[in-house]
Order: sequence, then C-alpha cells, then structure tokens
Amino acid sequence: MAYLVRGTIVHCPREAGGQPTLETFDDGVMLVDDGHVQRIGPATTLLRSDLKDLPVEDHSGSMILPGLIDTHIHYPQTDIIASYGEQLLEWLNRYTFPAEAAFGDAEVAAETAAFFIDELLRNGTTTALVLGTVHAQSVDAIFAAAAARDMRIAAGKVLMDRHAPDNLLDTAESGYRDSQALIERWHGQGRLLYAITPRFAPTSSEAQLAATGRLARAYPETFVHTHVAENSSEVAWVRALFPDERSYLDVYDRYGLVRERSVFAHCIHLDDDDRRRMAEQGAAAAFCPTSNLFLGSGLFDYAQAREAGMRVGLATDVGGGTSFSMLRTAAEAYKVSALHGQPLSAATMLHLCTRAGASALYLDDRIGGFDPGMEADFIVVNPAATPLTGRRDRAATTIEERLFALFTLGDDRHITATYLRGVRQMPAA
Ligand code: GUN
Ligand code: ZN
Repeated sequence: MAYLVRGTIVHCPREAGGQPTLETFDDGVMLVDDGHVQRIGPATTLLRSDLKDLPVEDHSGSMILPGLIDTHIHYPQTDIIASYGEQLLEWLNRYTFPAEAAFGDAEVAAETAAFFIDELLRNGTTTALVLGTVHAQSVDAIFAAAAARDMRIAAGKVLMDRHAPDNLLDTAESGYRDSQALIERWHGQGRLLYAITPRFAPTSSEAQLAATGRLARAYPETFVHTHVAENSSEVAWVRALFPDERSYLDVYDRYGLVRERSVFAHCIHLDDDDRRRMAEQGAAAAFCPTSNLFLGSGLFDYAQAREAGMRVGLATDVGGGTSFSMLRTAAEAYKVSALHGQPLSAATMLHLCTRAGASALYLDDRIGGFDPGMEADFIVVNPAATPLTGRRDRAATTIEERLFALFTLGDDRHITATYLRGVRQMPAA
C-alpha cells in the first residue's frame, strides 16, 4: 500500500568521494510503496502531483531520517551493561562469561532477544550486526525475534574453543557444524543474514580459526564478525599466543578471515599495514566509542582509518558499550574525533549512523538512505523532545546545527517512531 510521510527529510546521499553531505527537504515528503522508498521531494511539489490523493502520515515539525545501523552489538550482554571497574580481559571473566552461560537456556535467550529487539527499535536502530553466545539456540532466538518484526538483522553463534569457562566452549568441529547448520537455516531467510563469529583470536585454537576460514570461503555471502586490537593487554596476549604473526590482524588474515563482509570491532591498535590490508581486502571496522571509553581501551582514529580507505561503521558494542542509542554513540564518536583534532561534522555523524554502516555491511544498495528502491526503514525524530533540546533546536539556524545538537544531546526520548520496510513498529501501529 502506498502512502506519503511528511516532515523534515534528511539523509546522506551516496558519497561522490570526499566528505559526506546532507540532502534535506525542510518540508518534505517521501513516497513509500510496498515497503520501499519511491521518491523524496518538497511537499509543495509532491502534494500537488499525481500523489495528492494518497494517505499522509504527517510528522511535520519532526525529522525523518534513515533507520540507524549498529555494526557491532552483543545481545546476551544486555543485562551486564554498566558493570563496574574492569578492563577488557577481566571484564570478560568477571561479567561477560557468566552472563553468556545463561544462554544455554532457550527461555532466557528468547526473553532477552525479544527485549533486545524492542530496545533497538525504541532507539531508532533498524539494522544491527549482533553476536549471540556459543549456543546455537541463542542465534535461533535472536533471528526469531527479528523475523517477527521483519527486521534486517545479521547475527551469528560465537565460536570459542579455548581460554573461556568449559560450559562456553565448542570445538573446531562442532563450531563449524553448528555454524553451517545455522547458515543453512537462517541466512537469506526474509531479511536475516548470517555472521560467522569467532569471538577473538585468543579464544579460538588454530584448528578453529582454520575451520572458520574454510566456512568463510564456503559461504562468501555471509559476514565474518570478530574483535581486533581493542586493548593493550589483549594485543600482548595475541602476540604471545601467535608469536609468528606480524600483527593481530595477520592472525585473521592467515586464515582468510579478512575479506569483504568481514567486520572487525575496535581496530584501535592497528598499524598502517593493517589498515591498508583491511581497505584493500574490503573489510570494515566497527567504531565503538562508548565501549572504548568505558573499558579504558583507547581512542579509535576515524580520520586515519578513512585516509587509509577503510570502511567504517559506528557501533554501540553493548554491553561493553554503555548505550543502545546511536545518537549517544555518535556524540562519543565526536568527542573521540575531537581529541584527535579532527572533529566529525554533523553530516559525518549522520553518515556513520546510516549509509556508512550500510556500506560496512555491503548493504548500501538496500538500506542507509532514501534512494529510490531502497527498503523503507526510517525513523521519526523529534529534535525538541526535552526542554533543553527544544530550546537548543529553536536557537539553531541551519540543518547542520540542528543535527549536531540532536546527536550531541539526543537519546531514545527523541525517537518518536521507527518503521521497518514501511511498517511502523514503535510505538506499535
Ligand atoms: N573481545 C572479545 N570478546 C569481547 C566482548 O564480548 N566485548 C568486547 N568489547 N570485546 C571483546
Ligand atoms: Zn564486542
């Protein structure tokens, strides 16, 4: 069914090289038909055209943005978000592994997955690349919850056969077999996509990394999803475990895991060679600023990554990250970039949350913008949802200034509706 959405329409058009830009219609209309974007344009023109008799969802006064894309998040860590006082390796042992052990229970997985999907949608996130736990049923649960909403989710079972509690370990063989069965069951069903997910090099034996590489070659359309170069103790541990490798990234590369549709969370402690290789081989970085600050990991250098030609998406990394909100996450990304002396523009912040994420996931022909034919995942944002943001928004004179204040001050209170393939999900239609 065709309908029109009216409001201030803003998206980042396809990048013609150089810096991201904004396309804005202050009083704009988007034509949605059969779950896809057909056109956007000024209301004065489109409402007088052959479209004038279509129903209009009027969000005048609010912004209509593409759905936000979170390129790295752990749904089983929902309940340990904001756990005190540790850096990565201690945090994994103290909080993460015990929490993930509970996902051997299908009911825990289903209940958490349903909450998690709703929380993403409440925050305006319409696509996410999600880690499960080592348990195959944790992935069944997240895919089932996403399918119930027609949500485009990529997810995978964690592969982990050493250096973790026994009840969280698979083996090289069982990890391969279970992942393959999940790919066959879920990849390409509706909007769902599979991500082959070795947790990180320290928790996979060489036999498991080799098996994972074989799987990644056998299913090139799936994602590879892991962590790299997040924390200095972790990097030192990888050096000790893999003394023959030049770098942490090289461990993955040796097994064929640095390829198109590979997404590496963090990428803080990489060198020029690593960055060049990621760019040349089409792999992407997930920039996780709230996590990197919270776990004391370090400062990702976005400008350096882009100069090297890397694909970069933005990510919450809950539960190491401290917010489901991509607005909050973009605000922290801005602060990290400011520390590097290269502050992100408002257009780049929107780009990172939308089209850049889509491009990191090789989905930019389908999501991340309002090009004709794209899937109609979009959000309605009230930039004046609180007294302060209302005041700040009224003081702004340009769309860049309004967007920048929204990203810097905004959160879930500012997301007033979330649509997936043209159907409103939050608040429920
Ligand atoms: N490295 C390996 N596992 C994890 C995890 O669960 N969270 C983060 N932030 N880093 C990791
Ligand atoms: Zn993570």
